[in-house]
Amino acid sequence: MMKKRVIGVIGLGHVGAHVAFTLGVTGAADIVKLCDVREQKLISERQDLMDAVRFMPHRVNYVIAKYEELGDCDIIINAIGKIELLVTHNRDTEMNFTVAQVADFIPRVMAGGFQGIFINITNPCDVVTDLIAKLSGLPKGHVFGTGTGLDSSRLVSAIAQQTGLDHKSITAYMMGEHGNAQMVPWSLIEFGGKPLSELEKDPRFVFNKDEIKERTIKAGWVTYVGKGCTEYGICSTAVALANAVLHDEKRIMAASCPLDGEYGEKGIFAGCPAVIGAAGVEQVMEYTLTAEELAEFRKCCSTIRENIKRAEAVWR
Ligand code: LAC
Repeated sequence: MMKKRVIGVIGLGHVGAHVAFTLGVTGAADIVKLCDVREQKLISERQDLMDAVRFMPHRVNYVIAKYEELGDCDIIINAIGKIELLVTHNRDTEMNFTVAQVADFIPRVMAGGFQGIFINITNPCDVVTDLIAKLSGLPKGHVFGTGTGLDSSRLVSAIAQQTGLDHKSITAYMMGEHGNAQMVPWSLIEFGGKPLSELEKDPRFVFNKDEIKERTIKAGWVTYVGKGCTEYGICSTAVALANAVLHDEKRIMAASCPLDGEYGEKGIFAGCPAVIGAAGVEQVMEYTLTAEELAEFRKCCSTIRENIKRAEAVWR
């Protein structure tokens, strides 16, 4: 009998619900377990999702589950949050709420025997990913976050719109915090393998670098002000990461990764390009950055480190 691909989604708000739906629409999972503290929300989201299964590429069974019933999941995607707190336009504002919630339910998930891969979306993403890694005790790499994977997609989109090139032909990453402390390693940007530095005689490739960086960092807020949330970009990022794990793709994507000396940083999670496969973050890609880029990245890491310390006051 073929093993069923089982994915758990914790938190059925805008993001979690879109993740659950996208897992079905992309044929990523055979069983999607839905977990939330709100019973009626679970019943209603499950009903709505099951109403769509007829039109999905493969049959999916959406199941309501308690934290302790996620032990058979290959992957758990955590998407809990209190989106209304983000009126401040600073993801740190959610910290006290999300860190307390995660500190409560991770032990319950682990008591259920979970030994799979955790993909965290919940903000502040790098801080909460670090907390899940600490509390779950899962092997290094088996816990990671969407982190700057989403921001990298936003950067690629801005570059694609200016150059007219296809998104998939552009290699570009945001690194650092999934938040205001992130940076663009311009020296890593390539177009079909051709470095940006070899193209800057062409006006299409002359970028207002500060403007592009700011636009990328603020993109989430552009969406938030009109929708009261973000959905499509983040759920597509999470499902792409989940597929890279499920299919052992060894795909290089930016994500919130455990640093253990790379770029001179250790003991934190930060957004970096990494090889994503069956074991989660299998290798953090360490590129040669310019001295200025490295200094900027390490400054971002200091912000994350400070926030991880602040979070300890909430959960320890
Ligand atoms: C965003 C949320 C997921 O940037 O933090 O869209």
